Amino acid sequence: MSFSRREFLRASTATALGIGLPGELFAQAGTAPASPGGAWDAGLVRHLLPTVSDTRMLIKASFNAPLTDAPTLRVGDAAVRGRMGDTSGEHWHFYASDLSPGRRYPLSLAGADGRALCQPWELATFPGPDERPSLFRLLIYSCAGGHEAFTFLPPAVRNRLLRRGLSFEPNAAVANGDHVYWDLLSPFNSHVIGGRSPQAEKLAGKFDRSGVVIGGDNENVLKRAAGPQIMPVYGTAFRSTPIFFLQDDHDYFDNDEATDEIITFPPSYFMLQLARATQNLYYPEFLPDVARPLGLPWSSAADRPWGVSESFGTIRYGRLAEILLYDIRRSQTLAGPSAVYVDLEVERWLKARAAATEVTHVVHVPSNPPGWTAGKWGEWYPDVLGSDGKLTMAEPKPYWQPGWLKQHDRLMGYLSAMTGRAPLVISGDLHAIGIGRMLRSGTLDLKANPVNVVLAGPIGTRPGGWPSGRRGTGALPSAVLDLEERVKPIEQHGFTLVDFTPDKIVLRFFKWDVKSQAVDAIDTLQPFHTAELARPI
Ligand SMILES: [Fe+2]
Repeated sequence: MSFSRREFLRASTATALGIGLPGELFAQAGTAPASPGGAWDAGLVRHLLPTVSDTRMLIKASFNAPLTDAPTLRVGDAAVRGRMGDTSGEHWHFYASDLSPGRRYPLSLAGADGRALCQPWELATFPGPDERPSLFRLLIYSCAGGHEAFTFLPPAVRNRLLRRGLSFEPNAAVANGDHVYWDLLSPFNSHVIGGRSPQAEKLAGKFDRSGVVIGGDNENVLKRAAGPQIMPVYGTAFRSTPIFFLQDDHDYFDNDEATDEIITFPPSYFMLQLARATQNLYYPEFLPDVARPLGLPWSSAADRPWGVSESFGTIRYGRLAEILLYDIRRSQTLAGPSAVYVDLEVERWLKARAAATEVTHVVHVPSNPPGWTAGKWGEWYPDVLGSDGKLTMAEPKPYWQPGWLKQHDRLMGYLSAMTGRAPLVISGDLHAIGIGRMLRSGTLDLKANPVNVVLAGPIGTRPGGWPSGRRGTGALPSAVLDLEERVKPIEQHGFTLVDFTPDKIVLRFFKWDVKSQAVDAIDTLQPFHTAELARPI
């Protein structure tokens, strides 16, 4: 179907009039962020985030006004009826299955009356599991959340950074953790710049922790708190780029903190409901994968359709690359020497994928960072900020669990033991950009095949949010490790592009200094560092 811009505007204006939208709302829609390559009219779509596998697509979208009847997504010749994600009809989900691998599909969205809700666009499925593509390009970053009212980088600037990343035409993107900052219980700052500060309660209202999240007043508080942190950052810029959202501590509406008064993780029931509701409303869960068990924790939940996984994901790009994403907060335990961050069944999956040989590159993407420490409680390592203001292992880290480091060593061991692959871990949580090579962890010798560890770069960090901002010391290699730092953690906004080809992995690191660079400079950012990881022979 050919579709001119004029026809689109006529159709969508009619739609706007048909459902009685105020004129200024539609005018706002016209100012939605432009995509690389020219204007695309988002119409009534406020935000849209897709994910794909080789045969499926899952799209989360919101609209500038509630839709009373289900909209329909057309994927090629197939029609997919939307499923409402909230209780007011602003948020809709679209799931398409039985698609052909490695195929670019034309997509279009229409209201129940058949009129277009936005201009058509395209989205491709990934290659099938036995195909051998020559290139897979991944855009990856962390910490894109934060409400503008609390001095996080303005959403328009975050969007510009992301669009610079998209201008390199990645096949997929990973948003690694902390899409929302609205801490509610954390003793450190939730009452100052978090969700229970007077300003936050004025902006969004107050959660009732004994109430349901969706279907009560909490739903409106959640939308007012989380919506401005996600929708203007993404808009519709990723409509043709599958994206994978991994959750970390702040996505549960708290910082990882442990004091004698409160330990924030594992998440309480209410935290869990907030994290699940945010994911359900705004960004896609992980689609099933041929090599990931369907029964991992928080996968195939009865109240989620389509067999999606909420905390453990896979990007499978033919036989070229398999990216394994894991949220370390949801299944963490506090069991001392046998404590874990990821459930033992999840660890078995990670171990099995490292041992399997059908994919050229296997990469770990956990939600917190192997390699470095900033002295936080919820790290892999026992380093703590000592009484002299320096990171040390000579003093105990309260409530830190030795089992977490044991699991770290097992995971790094699985990666280092891979034959014919360069081990690579790209993590989130830590607001910095860096790369190093882990040669040893405790008594575990990794020198035969060192584990490359990468901090991909944060997108939304506020001025006081850098590792050194709170503790006065930047991120450092844990004293547990021999870590060869190739780029010491840089406290600037940025992102990383990773190119997978049959014989190597090439990482390109981008940074932008909010203190000294103009916003315009984002549009021409070039990598400041390139790292090439050849497959060991
Ligand atoms: Fe985090």
